[in-house]
Amino acid sequence: MAGTKTFTMIKPDAVRDGHIGAILNQISEAGFRISAMKLTQLSKADAEAFYAIHNERPFFGELVSFMTSGPIVAAVLEKDNAVADFRALIGATNPAEAAEGTIRARFAKSIGENAVHGSDSDENAQIEGDFHFAGREQF
Ligand code: RTP
Ligand code: MG
Repeated sequence: MAGTKTFTMIKPDAVRDGHIGAILNQISEAGFRISAMKLTQLSKADAEAFYAIHNERPFFGELVSFMTSGPIVAAVLEKDNAVADFRALIGATNPAEAAEGTIRARFAKSIGENAVHGSDSDENAQIEGDFHFAGREQF
């Protein structure tokens, strides 16, 4: 059975551009419940750990530098089929390929600065939520 939890970050580009409210509104309208949330900034070590799976990729340095460049909103979201439904809501990694109306189509600038993160599996949703939030911060 598909899980009910996913994890998201509103990335530094979208926070800088003033899109926190619009993105949270689109997430809520799509039926997700926010069960944890904060404005925070990743250290270099945080970003390297969070994206460790990509550490051999050519864009890794750029990714870490971008993700530490300003505050982010981190949140845990709940809904039936959360991981797949949230990835459909945010659209393709490259905003040029993201379906019309998706969060990345509306707010992302490029494949690197793409406005939001969404977990890619139930297992990673749990790991990523627990990376950012203590148990007493998840409701
Ligand atoms: P995310 O993990 O942030 O939700 O994005 P995703 O699953 O759609 O894409 P993923 O393959 O996991 O890549 C993670 C993030 O790395 C940056 N990236 N840059 N310059 C590039 O070619 C490139 N490719 C990926 C993006 O910020 C992407 O979201
Ligand atoms: Mg990913």
